[in-house]
Amino acid sequence: MLRNRQALIPYLLLVAALAGGLLWYQSAQVPQLGRVVSTGKMDVGGPFRLIDHTGKPRGDADFRGRYMLIYFGFTFCPDVCPTTLAVMAEALGKLGGDAKRVVPVFITIDPERDTPKVLADYMKAFGPNFVGLTGSAAQIKDVEKKFRVYAVKRPLEGSQGKDAGYGVDHSNVMYLVGPDGKTVSFYTDAISPDDLAKDLKSKI
Ligand code: NI
Repeated sequence: MLRNRQALIPYLLLVAALAGGLLWYQSAQVPQLGRVVSTGKMDVGGPFRLIDHTGKPRGDADFRGRYMLIYFGFTFCPDVCPTTLAVMAEALGKLGGDAKRVVPVFITIDPERDTPKVLADYMKAFGPNFVGLTGSAAQIKDVEKKFRVYAVKRPLEGSQGKDAGYGVDHSNVMYLVGPDGKTVSFYTDAISPDDLAKDLKSKI
């Protein structure tokens, strides 16, 4: 599914970070009462201003005080996106009352086709709490860059001309962003709903 080698690099770094758990921590050595305490946050993510599925402007600051579980994809995605969103929905369902502290957020990497209206219809399939976000091509590029998302458009096989359909090759990572807007963790689409729920419970 992943073709463009150069664009793959940030994604590979993310995978390497998952394996090593090192790259993403900006560790600060804080001397405290004779002990050395390491603190740090993941160096991925950042502020964004987008449009939600109801057509209202929504920025990262609007989610302060709650966690965001963010996934990047596109509504025309035939397989991985709906599967991953279903995993998110199922995991949140297992959190019981704590689920209200986590907002599931879907950010499109295909703003051309994923208008607020398209997102509104799509989000319904996953649950009433899901927030779909879109924006201008530049706004989406910006948020992709901040989250080191890999997303490359590719013509669908067998289609040609100006009406040709396209798909988007993309990375499949869920990001957990804390109430302070800092990214606290991320998960690949290989995680099961049970494991995701368990990890979310330990972090929120
Ligand atoms: Ni997808």
